[in-house]
Amino acid sequence: MRDRAIIWSGLAMFLLFATFPFWHNLSAAVTSKGPNPVLPANARQCVAPVEYMKTSHMTLLLDWREQVVRQGRREFTAFNGQRYNMSLTSTCLEQCHSSGKAQFCDRCHDYAAASVPCWDCHVDFKSTLRSAK
Ligand code: HEC
Ligand code: HEC
Repeated sequence: MRDRAIIWSGLAMFLLFATFPFWHNLSAAVTSKGPNPVLPANARQCVAPVEYMKTSHMTLLLDWREQVVRQGRREFTAFNGQRYNMSLTSTCLEQCHSSGKAQFCDRCHDYAAASVPCWDCHVDFKSTLRSAK
């Protein structure tokens, strides 16, 4: 009888420790705040569907660059027929994500530890204007 109690409590302890990573992750997922980028105040629709932008915005931006720099084309017709000037600063930041790169792009990139070299050359008006003042 006593053996059985010891075996059962031993088993229970084992299960508790063996499954620790799972429930620890579960509780972390609930409490983790995530990158929380500041969304545009006025625009309701991006140049492509949000799900596509989440996974593939880098491909789209590199495609824009290719078209502007190598093909001399600047107009982009979006999936919904809307037309945009293919420009990282003027369109993405000024026209839409006016909270600026720090509150939008960087929130995710810092969170994911992604290094994005575009700003060595491209201007982020928000931070440039701020530092110029
Ligand atoms: C070494 C400097 C440099 C770096 C780094 C750089 N670019 Fe550019 N990019 C340019 C120049 C110069 C142009 C041409 C500007 C024009 O003709 O309007 C350009 C044009 C573009 C354009 C089209 C025009 C516009 O106004 O946006 C896009 C889009 C673009 N780059 C995206 C990117 C992305 C995305 C990255 C990061 C992965 C990047 N660039 C990194 C220099 C750079
Ligand atoms: C919802 C989160 C999120 C937001 C918002 C976001 N990014 Fe990203 N971005 C990522 C992640 C994650 C990666 C890294 C993907 C990888 O390494 O596979 C990335 C990678 C990139 C890359 C590729 C860098 C490289 O050289 O490989 C570019 C370019 C880029 N982002 C541009 C931007 C710009 C510009 C903005 C703001 C207008 C922005 N992103 C906003 C999540 C985001």
